[in-house]
Amino acid sequence: MTAKSRLAIYPGSFDPITRGHEEIVRRALRIADRLIVAVAHQPSRSKQGMFSVDERLDMIGEVFADEPAVEAAEFDGLLVEFARQRGASIVVRGLRSVSDFEYEVQMALTNRQLDPAIETVFLAPDGRWSFLSASLVREIARLGGDASAFVSEPVQRRLRERSGSR
Ligand code: PNS
Repeated sequence: MTAKSRLAIYPGSFDPITRGHEEIVRRALRIADRLIVAVAHQPSRSKQGMFSVDERLDMIGEVFADEPAVEAAEFDGLLVEFARQRGASIVVRGLRSVSDFEYEVQMALTNRQLDPAIETVFLAPDGRWSFLSASLVREIARLGGDASAFVSEPVQRRLRERSGSR
């Protein structure tokens, strides 16, 4: 398989997609030819969510409207199953700091156990985003703050509509 035919999956909650996620997508496109940003259905976590899965997918589509190599898709069930169905052998995750490490390695090793053909690749974001999380963005918006430094315009617009933030 050549580098030019590589399909990667970037799974997550993306509630909502942040500039940190966006940067990981752009970095991932340096090692993969196409990337699926895969929004997980997580019914057990739905109470804490701000946006529906459809809204998250719409925002990802809007943010990457000019990037044909990026597709937004939803999945439920196991990530490795979804990767297999789509023919992807690379899973991308962002690693912001040492606090992410334990959880991320646990997931990567579990996924490897479930399907050794799927390789997890960790990408470090630019230092500007090493503190950023979607949960902080949600909190800023809920409290009426300005999250525009942390999310792109289409996301900021939805945050404003949802919470009346600036
Ligand atoms: O952005 P998040 O919430 O940290 O993403 C976590 C996610 C969605 C990548 C992870 O929970 C996941 O892969 N869920 C799908 C179910 C699954 O495959 N679980 C076993 C892997 S450890």
